[in-house]
Amino acid sequence: MSTSLEPHASADAADAVAPRAFKDLFRHHPAGVAIVTLAAPDGSPVGFTATSVISVSADPAILAFSVTQTSSSWDALSRAASGVVHFLGTGHADLSTRFATPGIDRFSGVAWTRLPTGEPLLTDVSTWARFEILDRIPAGSSRLVLAAVTEISAEGSAPAQPTRLVYVDRTYRRLHEV
Ligand SMILES: Cc1cc2nc3c(=O)[nH]c(=O)nc-3n(C[C@H](O)[C@H](O)[C@H](O)COP(=O)(O)O)c2cc1C
Repeated sequence: MSTSLEPHASADAADAVAPRAFKDLFRHHPAGVAIVTLAAPDGSPVGFTATSVISVSADPAILAFSVTQTSSSWDALSRAASGVVHFLGTGHADLSTRFATPGIDRFSGVAWTRLPTGEPLLTDVSTWARFEILDRIPAGSSRLVLAAVTEISAEGSAPAQPTRLVYVDRTYRRLHEV
């Protein structure tokens, strides 16, 4: 196994991988499902479904997620200072679909409020983390957003049981013990 960044990290090597093959690789890689929300400059709520949320650092607490540069949420995300990641449970598949549907008012008919700091909070999702954006790193056709976590919901800090929603092969699943 190579321990060097060269030549595997070169642009030429990356260009050799077909987008379809890369998508298929991750299509079968199970991912937890989240909804990222934030306030647009005019205060209106913005949100989108994301499986790209990852833990980056525990001390200090930093997370990251990627957003495609064509996303309707990008304009608000490029201007926002903060937001909320909601970690979805097995009962939230419809909510996930809603926040990935283009051209609708995603917050219409959905239970939500605002944190005292103004970010939209989906009140049916009890596990969430508020974040403040540290950086937005261009990465191909997406942006990688790095964010410091400033607050975690009580449920998020000590979940009663692992009932998170999982997305694999374009299908929502729940975990079963093996
Ligand atoms: C399960 C799932 C996971 C998604 N994960 C991401 C993600 O991590 N980053 C992203 O930019 N879009 C992601 N999307 C797409 C966004 O939810 C997006 O808002 C949606 O495709 C509609 O795009 P629009 O707001 O530009 O119309 C995901 C969609 C689904 C269904």
